[in-house]
Amino acid sequence: MATQYENIQTQLREKPKKWLITGVAGFIGSNLLETLLKLNQTVIGLDNFVTGHQHNLDEVKTEVSAEQWQRFTMITGDICNLEDCKQATQGVDYVLHQAALGSVPRSIEDPIRTNEANINGFLNMLIAARDANVSSFTYAASSSTYGDHPALPKIEENIGKPLSPYAVTKVVNELYADVFAKTYNFKTIGLRYFNIFGKRQDPNGAYAAVIPKWVSAMLRNDAVYINGDGETSRDFCFIENAIQMNLLAATAHDDGKNEVYNVAVGDRTTLNHLFNAIQEALAENTPEIHTLKPVYRDFRAGDVRHSQADINKAENKLGYTPAYNIDQGLKQTLPWYQQHLA
Ligand SMILES: NC(=O)c1ccc[n+]([C@@H]2O[C@H](COP(=O)([O-])OP(=O)(O)OC[C@H]3O[C@@H](n4cnc5c(N)ncnc54)[C@H](O)[C@@H]3O)[C@@H](O)[C@H]2O)c1
Repeated sequence: MATQYENIQTQLREKPKKWLITGVAGFIGSNLLETLLKLNQTVIGLDNFVTGHQHNLDEVKTEVSAEQWQRFTMITGDICNLEDCKQATQGVDYVLHQAALGSVPRSIEDPIRTNEANINGFLNMLIAARDANVSSFTYAASSSTYGDHPALPKIEENIGKPLSPYAVTKVVNELYADVFAKTYNFKTIGLRYFNIFGKRQDPNGAYAAVIPKWVSAMLRNDAVYINGDGETSRDFCFIENAIQMNLLAATAHDDGKNEVYNVAVGDRTTLNHLFNAIQEALAENTPEIHTLKPVYRDFRAGDVRHSQADINKAENKLGYTPAYNIDQGLKQTLPWYQQHLA
């Protein structure tokens, strides 16, 4: 029997829609773009390139046909500017709002800029999408919303206090989305991403995520740092699972809307295990990587110790079936870095 995701893809191919992806030049945004163009959808992209890259868009162009690429319109603009948001949402069916300043440490260094993009920009996008009468507004929420709540696995309704300015912004997003849903009868769906990884995730800069950062360090023979004792754990989720959730959420029937969902696999992997898995896989082509040892340093402020999602709600309400576990995801991802960082 076809999965719900397969059914949605068939429906979209038969009846293409118009989508807006904010943060389209970033990691998750550019992967969403590639999938939607391959499904012959019309896509508007909005990005100010603060952390996104033109080369991500250039790469998508090489992955789709010329005809599919023509269905993409790029708007270089800022979600902090309401006019840019209004222009981008014109005539759009589904909004996938990914634009934000990610990273817990960045938000600790500069809470004002994180707040501007993640809260003011989010509110602008909600207003623009509401006024454009879009069919749904799906947005990137975050597992950081669980904060100091100790329970594992994480269930959507049980959240604690935020541990960083970044987490505060993601909690506020959920509050605004809920109020908009109730006040304006507007359809919002929050996707609480748990450590998403895959191709085009930026390996460079002080705020890079752990997988691209380690892969690039190993390939360049740089030191690989583990914050804490390495027994910190995360529910690492391959990008294809997150793309599936975006499409299921955007097109969901009304009873699946005005909700937040965990986007994860439901597993837990320690940093020590992750180090070994990446090292072994990369050493197949580059044997000297085998001798690398991680450098342990202090725990990082604002980080939660363990994270693992309960994905029952997404499975039951949206028909989510994560097709990749961490090992399958790494197998898809690592060759991309080997090719691009060589
Ligand atoms: N990657 C993860 O594991 C993860 C986990 C939880 C939540 N998220 C959320 O998912 C979303 C996408 O994250 P990502 O990993 O792709 O990050 P990314 O940095 O690669 O992408 C974010 C994109 O948003 C753009 N952007 C930022 N501020 C903007 C602004 N003011 N106006 C217009 N564009 C702007 C950036 O230029 C970038 O292209 C973010 O909202 C992030 O908080 C990601």
